[in-house]
This record gives sequence, C-alpha cells and structure tokens, in this order.
Amino acid sequence: MTLLQVMAADNATDVRVRTTVPTEIGAELAKYGIAFSRWDVVADATTTDSDALLAHYAPHIGELDAALRYRHIDVARIRPDDADPAWPATAAGARAKFLDEHRHAEDEVRFFAAGRGCFYLHLDDAVLATVCEAGDLLSVPAGTLHWFDMGARPDFIAIRFFEEADGWIGDFTGDPISASFPTLDELLA
Ligand SMILES: [Fe+2]
Repeated sequence: MTLLQVMAADNATDVRVRTTVPTEIGAELAKYGIAFSRWDVVADATTTDSDALLAHYAPHIGELDAALRYRHIDVARIRPDDADPAWPATAAGARAKFLDEHRHAEDEVRFFAAGRGCFYLHLDDAVLATVCEAGDLLSVPAGTLHWFDMGARPDFIAIRFFEEADGWIGDFTGDPISASFPTLDELLA
C-alpha cells in the first residue's frame, strides 16, 4: 500500500495528513519540490532478471534520464530467504545502514518494481513518511534530510539512478530524530 503520513517534526503523534491516494500523495510531495510518480507494474518482477526489468522500463527510464544525468542505473534486490541462516543478520545490517537521518550530494532516485520501503523526508517543521510500493518512483532532492526504513523483513526490488559512483554516500547528521517516528511496519500495521 502506497502511503503518505505527514507528521510534525517535533511530535510524531501530530499527524497532519495520512493518505493512500496516489494523486494526493503526489500533490502533497510536490508542495516541497519532491517528485513522485507511478510507472506500470511487472506482475512477475521477482522472477524477472535485472536486465529484463531494465529493458521493460526502458521507455520510462529514457524519459526520466532524457538529460542523461544518470551514469549508473542498476537494480537492487533484497528478498527474505528463511533457508539462509545468515539472512536475519544480513537483513538487519541492510536495514540499519540508512535508518538514521542523513543527506546525499545528489538526488536519491528510486523506482520500486516490487516490495516496499519507506522514505522519511524531514522538510521544514514536518516529517513526510512515504511508503513506496511496486510502481512508485520517488526522487529525494540532493541535500534533503531523510532516512529510509525497509522494515523488519526487507523485501523489495528497486531501480536506482546515480549521477556519480560515490554520489549516494550518506552524510549523517547525528540527529536521533528517526527513533521518534513510527517504523515502516508500524505505519502499515
Ligand atoms: Fe538516503
């Protein structure tokens, strides 16, 4: 379920907006200059290899990258593997990586081909928790304070767009704000 929940930055219980209507989500995010749109969904994305996924979305990617800004476009996948005893630690490590507030030197552009993840955008006096699911494209502008929660059971396939190989290195603020907000799992509960 694609979801936007807007909360006061100093009080997560002060919920100003909660909507699952994509057009409303796009309009709310646009107020802050955040680009959100939807592409079609490949029903069998989890069994489609990455090259085939990129080929399927080539028309959308070409439109998004008309200015040829993105030098690296790849597919990130994380799926639960309960048969792998190392999976819980792998999942926890992946989740922890960007769970604290940070910013990047370039836009963080993600298209979710499957699964879900939540971007928390800290903008002015608000935090906009944006749960993206299959079909959602979100662009977090360079310099925007944010964090990302993939949940306790990470499960997504995302096409990532990078301008520079090192552009996505996180510049962490050290602010513990993310701990005060509902997790992805709590938002969807
Ligand atoms: Fe980030």
